[in-house]
Amino acid sequence: MDGNGRWAQERGLPRLQGHRAGTENIRKVISSFAGHGVRYLTLYAFSVENWRRPRAEVQGLLSLLGEVIDREVGNLHREGVKLNHLGTLDGLSTRLQKRVLSAMDRTRNNTGISLNLAFNYGGRQEILMAVNKLLEQANSPHPVDEAMFSRTLYTADVPDPDLIIRTAGELRMSNFLLWQSAYSEYYSTSTYWPDFNEEAIEAALQAYSLRQRRFGGLKQRQ
Ligand code: IPE
Ligand code: MG
Repeated sequence: MDGNGRWAQERGLPRLQGHRAGTENIRKVISSFAGHGVRYLTLYAFSVENWRRPRAEVQGLLSLLGEVIDREVGNLHREGVKLNHLGTLDGLSTRLQKRVLSAMDRTRNNTGISLNLAFNYGGRQEILMAVNKLLEQANSPHPVDEAMFSRTLYTADVPDPDLIIRTAGELRMSNFLLWQSAYSEYYSTSTYWPDFNEEAIEAALQAYSLRQRRFGGLKQRQ
């Protein structure tokens, strides 16, 4: 969800106002993707590298997360959204950890769109987490295969992404779902995250529908 800072800057506002604006479209974005038949949606909210930002911004982002959970979880629950966290809770306050866990618990049995919130997430860190977990069970007689490795990641129950949308015009991975994105389609839009609306979603899905996915083979596969 990139471009909050630039969105604010262009309006002469503090960066945190941009982050706040970036939370206001979240509910609409989720219901729009759900309406288009998307079953899993992941929002990349805070990377492990984002701790490098000035303290005030980090604090602002963390408290915004708590606020958004409090504000949105009731609505999301009513709409049948199932919440899931990708990343580590280590380093977050106990209060925030509890909020994240209770939001997941509350929506656990929902059968609507699965919403993954990648927060305090890093793709490399996730791979190392899985490697270390597998090392703990190292006396298993079976060599580690792709399926087993996938099941050890934060995304154990989540299929690999078909489409990754990057807002604010950047053309890099930024440590996002490195293992899972091996054959994802990429789409970058210059739209800043707070302006990412229905029209922008339709443009992304339209572009995706024109891609031919062959997964290294010669025949198109779905
Ligand atoms: C939001 O956008 C992404 C987060 C890490 C929360 P940015 O804060 O990266 O916005 P820009 O890149 O400065 O515009
Ligand atoms: Mg950015």
